[in-house]
Amino acid sequence: MAKRIDVSGLSAYYGSFRAIEDISMTIEPRTVTAFIGPSGCGKSTFLRTLNRMHEVTSGGRVEGKVMLDDENLYGAGIDPVAVRREVGMVFQRPNPFPTMSVFENVAAGLKLAGSYKKSELSDIVEKSLKGANLWNEVKDRLNKPGSGLSGGQQQRLCIARAIAVEPKVLLMDEPCSALDPISTLAIEDLIGELKERFTIVIVTHNMQQAARVSDRTAFFNLAAVGQPGKLIEIDDTERIFSNPSVQATEDYISGRFG
Ligand SMILES: Nc1ncnc2c1ncn2[C@@H]1O[C@H](COP(=O)(O)OP(=O)(O)OP(=O)(O)O)[C@@H](O)[C@H]1O
Ligand SMILES: [Mg+2]
Repeated sequence: MAKRIDVSGLSAYYGSFRAIEDISMTIEPRTVTAFIGPSGCGKSTFLRTLNRMHEVTSGGRVEGKVMLDDENLYGAGIDPVAVRREVGMVFQRPNPFPTMSVFENVAAGLKLAGSYKKSELSDIVEKSLKGANLWNEVKDRLNKPGSGLSGGQQQRLCIARAIAVEPKVLLMDEPCSALDPISTLAIEDLIGELKERFTIVIVTHNMQQAARVSDRTAFFNLAAVGQPGKLIEIDDTERIFSNPSVQATEDYISGRFG
């Protein structure tokens, strides 16, 4: 099978602290992969190594290799800003640019990239808002502040902003944890649609959500506080939730953890 992402021997540090150790995994294009595991096991840290965001933290350092298609994201001469365009990110708390309108929020990434024709801008904004299932709710208020939307709408606005630059991969770190159940379902439906076009990686503490939205699930764990987090296993979601290979996975998903 084709690989979109191929990680090998990846460790990440904060200063001298090794937060995750020796992670290897492959992710196929147009799939949804869920990262699950207890707090502190390094899910967010690992996610951020996939678009070179980890090194933005002071003391942040990465060892190992992340291939995106045929390119090593940590290879010599790779521009981290270009990487982040190919591998977009959506955060736990919706973070629209507060002083910008709905329209400007979606256009922001494109403007930064400089990779659009002025005449195309409104078409791309409309297409992205439609892609994020938000268009009907905001088409009459495109020039109002993005921060005036509801939490669930703001999160879909952030997704529209992320997909406007047509990334290959979309990383989502607990994108529903600040949302009500209905907005959560809206985002989950949206993930199902977006995977036709993008490769998606989502961190979640919600086991039902992982089971609902993902094709593959990766379970991370750590032996003890202060120890680095490790990838315990990755497999088809159905298998992880019915018959995982490792006892620790079974304990975690059945709530017998700790
Ligand atoms: N900026 C930072 N500086 C130093 N250590 C950090 C930093 N961010 C995270 N860590 C540490 O790295 C380890 C992994 O943290 P990370 O946030 O990746 O875990 P997580 O699995 O995402 O947890 P949660 O489920 O609570 O979000 C933890 O021990 C954490 O304390
Ligand atoms: Mg986290």
